[in-house]
Amino acid sequence: MVRRLITRRAFMQATAGGMVSAVGVFGYTWRIEPHWVQIIERPLPIEHLPESLIGKRIVQLSDLHVGPVVDDAYLFRCMQRVNELKPDMLVITGDLMSCRETERVEPTITLLNEVTSPPLGTVVVLGNHDYGFRWGLGRVADRLSERLREQGIAVLRNQTMNIQGLNIAGIDDYWSPRFGPDDMLASLDQNQANLVLCHNPDVADEPVWNGYRGWILCGHTHGGQCKPPFLNPPILPVENKRYSEGTIDLHDGRMMYINRGLGYMHRVRFNVRPEITIFALAKA
Ligand SMILES: [Fe+2]
Repeated sequence: MVRRLITRRAFMQATAGGMVSAVGVFGYTWRIEPHWVQIIERPLPIEHLPESLIGKRIVQLSDLHVGPVVDDAYLFRCMQRVNELKPDMLVITGDLMSCRETERVEPTITLLNEVTSPPLGTVVVLGNHDYGFRWGLGRVADRLSERLREQGIAVLRNQTMNIQGLNIAGIDDYWSPRFGPDDMLASLDQNQANLVLCHNPDVADEPVWNGYRGWILCGHTHGGQCKPPFLNPPILPVENKRYSEGTIDLHDGRMMYINRGLGYMHRVRFNVRPEITIFALAKA
């Protein structure tokens, strides 16, 4: 009888402990990790980099998803973190907003106006969500681009710009009606310093690169948002499941960096903290 009682008590305690753990994990994945930003520092070695740019720091943000799901106050705090980092240049690799139409353009502009303009400027490429409903509305992406440019922010849509001797090439989104970087990539001079910004890492496997060597900065995956320790995330919105997060050597002279993003589609992250990346430019 005593043994039965102890066994029942032990069972009840174990069950209660399990429930507390489950509530704890749920609370962590919902309340804590989605807003627990990690600052990641990496060198960015680029061939032919002008001496004047060595040591300059580029902050990369991605996947802010300004919209109904991501907490606005959290995103404003992220912009303050960017200001504290005092970048020389800011790049944003797409999915600035989550929207159906143009309803999130102005809130996105308001958010980005919180960032102190870096001396070398801010450069944006668009992601699929910047195209609104079913990622297909060119007018939504056009409106966002127009408003960003009015703030002095460069938006590269299969275009390049030169910043003090560094060519930045921006690819328009892979899933959008405007994907088409072939001519722009063919125009890059491999005897100059180049850097490519591209929302979706699957573009790396497309036959559009024309011998490009160098770095490609991407986003899009959010790192899968949840992943078991030591294993790949079960859900990744890419064809090539290698393209999850972090640095990937493409073994043809190209290197890719995938930022895990700041926002989320659903407010849940586990073992995939949101990220602000800060790159230090170096000569390769
Ligand atoms: Fe995204």
